[in-house]
Amino acid sequence: MIELKNVKKNFGDLEVLKGISMTIQDHEIYGIIGQSGAGKSTLLRCVNGLEDYQSGEITVDGEPVSMKDPQKLRRQQKNMGMIFQNFNLLNRLDVYDNVALPMKFWGIPTKTPEAKKKIEDLIELVGLSDKIHARPRELSGGQKQRVAIARALVLDPEILLCDEATSALDPAITREILALLQEINEKMGITILVVTHQMEVVKQICQRVSFLKDGTVLAEGRPEELFVKPIKEVKQFLQEESGHLPDTGINIQLFFTDESSDDPVITMMARSLDINFSICWGKLEDFRSSVFGSLVINVQEEDKEKVCAYLDEKKVLWEVL
Ligand SMILES: Nc1ncnc2c1ncn2[C@@H]1O[C@H](COP(=O)(O)OP(=O)(O)OP(=O)(O)O)[C@@H](O)[C@H]1O
Ligand SMILES: [Mg+2]
Repeated sequence: MIELKNVKKNFGDLEVLKGISMTIQDHEIYGIIGQSGAGKSTLLRCVNGLEDYQSGEITVDGEPVSMKDPQKLRRQQKNMGMIFQNFNLLNRLDVYDNVALPMKFWGIPTKTPEAKKKIEDLIELVGLSDKIHARPRELSGGQKQRVAIARALVLDPEILLCDEATSALDPAITREILALLQEINEKMGITILVVTHQMEVVKQICQRVSFLKDGTVLAEGRPEELFVKPIKEVKQFLQEESGHLPDTGINIQLFFTDESSDDPVITMMARSLDINFSICWGKLEDFRSSVFGSLVINVQEEDKEKVCAYLDEKKVLWEVL
């Protein structure tokens, strides 16, 4: 659906995207995560043609996105709803008219019975039927973001691009908005590309994610692949440390990233090897509907070999710290 091939972009001397390649499948929720200034927003703006790029290629549904053909670009943009961090709502318009705005822009009548039904249905979808005539200043941040989502969907796009859609919201409202995006993805089959610096967002809704640093994709995969056993740069980004570990014995970190996490590996190991060890650190987290995580155990020096062999046999990833 969306394909980037070696996309390069600079602002003057500043190279912001240094050869980005990624493929986003139909109906996927795909995340782009990375530090401030990594180039995430620029990348998103290139995808929907708000920003030009110097080399490489971006295609949507097989069609190149390019400023060289403004008419085609406008048609492509109609197919890509966009949600911004700052909501971008018009204060003088109520919820209904804010949602209807893109239709007005495209010269589509907004007062016909069909249009009314569509707009009202979308407002209902985002749970704001009781606020349909409220002005943005009368809404909370989460409610404003819901209006922005309804507005982004009003032209029936196949793609939804979200730039930090939840960064301004508190954790509970963030969860609600993410559940809404997930519902939209499932019910309407819309492909969603989310740009964020919030790990929570990626963990909760993304099927795949790219980690961007200084305009380069450093890692790509399922969120659990990136975050449970992170590469050095992702670890730095997450600012994750495994706390104080014992100075004696051997500390082994176990990673549970797939079905193995359902097995009672730890208790089985203690019993079948007839050894004792202590658990020094652990972290289990929700990734969409599964729980994955990591555990550090401290084993006796003389047990190290058999523990490692046992973990290999059980296909548990491990690392001696
Ligand atoms: N219009 C512009 N002109 C010049 N430089 C720009 C422009 N837009 C962005 N940049 C620069 O490009 C780099 C990437 O910016 P971008 O907004 O893509 O980062 P980001 O990953 O979205 O960061 P954040 O998490 O803070 O939103 C930054 O160094 C920024 O200063
Ligand atoms: Mg940004």
